[in-house]
Amino acid sequence: MNRIRLGVNIDHVATLREARKTTEPDPVTAAMMAEMGGADQITFHLREDRRHIQNRDARLITEMAQTMVNLEMAATVEMQEIALALHPDSVTLVPEKREEVTTEGGLDLLRGTEKYAEVVKALKDGGIKVAAFVGPDQAQIKEASKLGFNAVEIHTGEYANATRAEFDRALKAVRDAAQSGRKHGLAVHAGHGLTYHNVREMVAIHDIEELNIGHSIISRAVFVGLEQAVREMVELLKR
Ligand code: PXP
Repeated sequence: MNRIRLGVNIDHVATLREARKTTEPDPVTAAMMAEMGGADQITFHLREDRRHIQNRDARLITEMAQTMVNLEMAATVEMQEIALALHPDSVTLVPEKREEVTTEGGLDLLRGTEKYAEVVKALKDGGIKVAAFVGPDQAQIKEASKLGFNAVEIHTGEYANATRAEFDRALKAVRDAAQSGRKHGLAVHAGHGLTYHNVREMVAIHDIEELNIGHSIISRAVFVGLEQAVREMVELLKR
């Protein structure tokens, strides 16, 4: 492929709707418009507290999407059952803390190994690809491979928030993690905090095949429309 795959995370559209507990803006419409703009995948996070995406959104988006659907979720029995019923193309397991504003860090796969192994097996048996959202950390990536994940999504938050002095080291950590993922036979995705201004360095890392981007695209969409905002990001992902 001559460009990195783009998953557009549409949670923030649901956040705006939930701010008023009303019916607009509808994340289902957002998913359709993101596809019109050239998204390769629709990504959403069905949180245990349902603070933004609701079961109804998850069901309709999974039914209606013409591209791939990536469900982000915690590794719980409830979410596993929902995933098996919805049957998205992929699931990305993420940590969840009730008090967090967004997904703050990656999973610690070295703790609760059995739980992850069970969820990964159940989802894979159901024909769903499974990714682990982990920090740019060699031990976590090695464990993801041992646990049978198909992919890792590298948390790019530290890279995105790095000061000028920290930037090179944070970028190298993502690059090394991507290389390690590929060496362990995993598909490599990345995401969190990526913007129109910091995505170029990610595109240059050829071990990364997919980016999931939400906040920056939805923010731009407020001014230029979602289809246009997605189109502009797609343009930046060309290799
Ligand atoms: N990938 C994962 C696993 C996430 O949890 C999030 C945030 O919901 C994103 C990507 C997108 O992050 P952002 O909204 O900062 O682009």
